Amino acid sequence: MYVPIKEILEGKHDGKEVQVRGWVYRQRTSGNLNFVIIRDSTGVLQTAIKKDKVDERSWEDASEVYIESSVELKGTVKDDPRAPGGKEIAVTGFKTVCRGEPYKIQKDLSEEFLLDVRHLWLRSRKMTRIMQGRHHILRYLRDFFEKEGFYEMTPPIITKSACEGGSTLFEFDYFKDKAYLSQSGQLYAESFVFSLEKVYVLAPSFRAEKSRTIRHLAEYWHLEPEMAWYSQKQNMELQEKMVEYVAQKLVKENSELLEEMGRDVEELKRVKGPFPRMDYEDAVAKVNDLGGKMETGEDFGADEEALLMKEYELPLFVHNFPKKIKAFYMRENPDKPGTVLANDLIAPKRHGELIGGSERIWKLDELLGRLKEEKLDPKDYEWYVDLRRYGSVPHSGFGLGIERLVKWMFDLDHIRDTIPYPRTIKRCYP
Ligand code: 4AD
Repeated sequence: MYVPIKEILEGKHDGKEVQVRGWVYRQRTSGNLNFVIIRDSTGVLQTAIKKDKVDERSWEDASEVYIESSVELKGTVKDDPRAPGGKEIAVTGFKTVCRGEPYKIQKDLSEEFLLDVRHLWLRSRKMTRIMQGRHHILRYLRDFFEKEGFYEMTPPIITKSACEGGSTLFEFDYFKDKAYLSQSGQLYAESFVFSLEKVYVLAPSFRAEKSRTIRHLAEYWHLEPEMAWYSQKQNMELQEKMVEYVAQKLVKENSELLEEMGRDVEELKRVKGPFPRMDYEDAVAKVNDLGGKMETGEDFGADEEALLMKEYELPLFVHNFPKKIKAFYMRENPDKPGTVLANDLIAPKRHGELIGGSERIWKLDELLGRLKEEKLDPKDYEWYVDLRRYGSVPHSGFGLGIERLVKWMFDLDHIRDTIPYPRTIKRCYP
């Protein structure tokens, strides 16, 4: 029976004969002894092949493997304090499944090269761990919304209208008509609340970002909940609860993975609500106090966010933004005209904006007025406006960039490492 390497390292098969299959991680030979370190999706294990303990074919196979050759073997599990993980297999039979060619990734580990061979670099320990972590984060997010009574829906990716402004739209020819890749599933998520009340969509969003930064992708995964009857206050409370849930689940169930990634687990443990909240105006004043140069009416850039986060270990809600710098669908704050009921949730350090959320305009006249103010053609948003004509209700929602969350949760330097195949201004290959 084939067993996962993790079980062997955990001591579940000590002294027993096992079969293992995987890929060669490293190999070294000394005379009649051959060490082949192999990996599978669960771990890395040392195996020892002695010439006089195996048949000729096994010895030849084990001697000729390359890094990343795929292999199967059998043998007895032994303790060996010198081996990684403290276990070793004394091999009795070894077979190469695919020897392949000498592995492409040898010495050149420049970032550009590793991106060119991303399809292979994904096998590295670093990327394997991040992808496992990403999987857990997505799982916990779905868990969370399931517990909170949400439905998961799927929005279209091909759309006719901009959600987040024209400057980052990818346009393409749709059977001789113009169409765009979705910047956000929000407008469609809103349409679902009139039947399902609490929904979320999880889909790729596309932004033709012209700049190269450590937190922008041209294609990213976007989780967008939308809730009927929710005020902006309840909206922020939900965001807080969701982020706390994911951080605490990671700490509780994946401490080993976090430690292997070098993540400060204690810091993550302290990610618990309530998160601090600050009015936009106060945030601008704070940035300026700390040496930044911001005018009221400007949005925060990466440097301003970093300044703002200097004093915070927890994410920070900035809310009550000026209407002028935010999207057309956000509801004006009746208690503070000129500002909208909207928030950004900014992650600590330089991880930047994690979430953008708001209460939506739900009254027909208000929405039509706002479209006009923004010089947007109501015709392009006809179906969206229609939602305000039949039993409209107050509702709120937000958008979380999955890769931004992964970047912060694992404290990674660059967003490109949070997604298997990053799409940026310079790259859509492989
Ligand atoms: O703030 P944004 O643009 O908001 C929206 O798209 C709303 N329609 C969301 C909603 O209310 N349903 O984007 C939301 C989040 C950002 O906070 C950020 O985490 C992420 O999406 N994001 C990006 N992530 C990676 N690369 C980019 N180019 C991103 N642009 C936004």
